[in-house]
Amino acid sequence: MPNIVVVGTQWGDEGKGKIVDLLTGRVQVVARYNGGHNAGHTVIANGRKFALRLIPSGILHEGVLCLMGPGMVVEPEAFETETEGLREAGVEVADNLLVSDRAHVILPHHFELEKLWEERRKIGTTRRGIGPAYEDKAGRRGIRLGDLLRPAALPEKLALARDHYEMVCRGAGVAPAVDWAALVDRLAAFGERHRSRIVDVAMVLHAQLARGYSVLCEGAQATLLDLDHGTYPFVTSSSASAGGAAVGLGLAPTRIDAVLGIAKAYTTRVGSGPFPTEMGGELEEKVREKGGEYGVVTRRPRRCGWFDGVATRYSVRVNGVDSLAIIKLDVLDELDEIRVCTSYRHAGVTVDAMPADVEMLAECEPVYETLPGWKSQTAGLREFADLPQAAKDYVTRLGEIVGAEVGLVSTGPDRDDTILIGRSALATWFA
Ligand code: GDP
Ligand code: IMO
Ligand code: MG
Repeated sequence: MPNIVVVGTQWGDEGKGKIVDLLTGRVQVVARYNGGHNAGHTVIANGRKFALRLIPSGILHEGVLCLMGPGMVVEPEAFETETEGLREAGVEVADNLLVSDRAHVILPHHFELEKLWEERRKIGTTRRGIGPAYEDKAGRRGIRLGDLLRPAALPEKLALARDHYEMVCRGAGVAPAVDWAALVDRLAAFGERHRSRIVDVAMVLHAQLARGYSVLCEGAQATLLDLDHGTYPFVTSSSASAGGAAVGLGLAPTRIDAVLGIAKAYTTRVGSGPFPTEMGGELEEKVREKGGEYGVVTRRPRRCGWFDGVATRYSVRVNGVDSLAIIKLDVLDELDEIRVCTSYRHAGVTVDAMPADVEMLAECEPVYETLPGWKSQTAGLREFADLPQAAKDYVTRLGEIVGAEVGLVSTGPDRDDTILIGRSALATWFA
């Protein structure tokens, strides 16, 4: 299979975990390139449900090397809780999981800083310390996993992060709440326990590619949550879009062969920020219940809206999507009619492109095309030919609106509830 990036094209939770797991059978390496335990990727394998946060969704396949790249942020306790949980469930987590020595560590003061700032800023973050960890990284005072292997120098390095944290505490008039001495010991012990798996991931990846192996790059979050390309400031703090795979893994852009975009057949969003196609009312409740739209990480109800063709078209372009997977078609089975946003109206003017300005986006009115519902069950269907005509037309229309080939339709959470569309680029990668 070519080296593929799997990327979310909306505001997250598109079903990346399911699709990565599905494709993992065709690759030797799965590599996560961004984010931390703010992600929640659901994989249902052999009737068992796994919610992966930090660990690549390829871990459930034997013989697949899973890599966590330099672009990630890793909270040591969350890492061990997740790996232990997987082992208890009978999943092998040994030398099949390697973590970058360049990945940054989420530390206790990051949680404290996030609490302070969220009270003021109200982005609606997952409160996992993600933003402050990336801030320390950009501020050149972060701790990297490789630092945990050389504990003698840790106190000096931590002093920089501490200094900055205490400056903020003084400004906010709160008492610092971190036991730094105990932290050094805890971090050193973590480094020792994982010494053999904290490695130069970019070079491992390079060696795997030299052997002719293929890599699947797993994105967390999504394009509209990307720090540069998303609905700033209501975004996460990492490079979630496809370009992030090159940066966040040390994988040369020339080695990425294709991009698979993942989109729900509708749209969801967790946290604050503009969402032009948000449904509201009873319909939103209905879709939320049918789609089980509650966060994997925080259990927050997800906001639900119609498919936003403007936003997804933007993502298709930013990521260079070669093939698009439409997920959760079955959730729309009961609707009489289905709306799709094809453009926005702002101050009487048609807007076809995603505005950079969130205030403007918040003022945009969606312009909808209304398509008939199919009012029959698509859940579990595995052949495109078996879909009702209205569902086929819906999927085809989504592809036209966003300017991408639809290569896959998902009709349920299980691996097998999947329609691969013949003659698509995706089908040829899969063959
Ligand atoms: P991710 O973060 O992109 O991996 O997505 P999440 O796991 O957060 O959310 C996707 C949810 O939809 C999970 O609960 C999946 O089990 C579920 N899911 C995935 N594909 C389908 C589908 O085609 N139909 C339905 N009904 N559920 C799906
Ligand atoms: P997966 O990988 C959906 C959202 C949060 C918040 C914003 C910033 O499962 O698709 P953060 O804690 O990252 O600083 O929060 O981003 N968010 C997600 N929304 N899916 C995710 O991950 C998300 N990760 C972060 O709700 O609005
Ligand atoms: Mg998720």
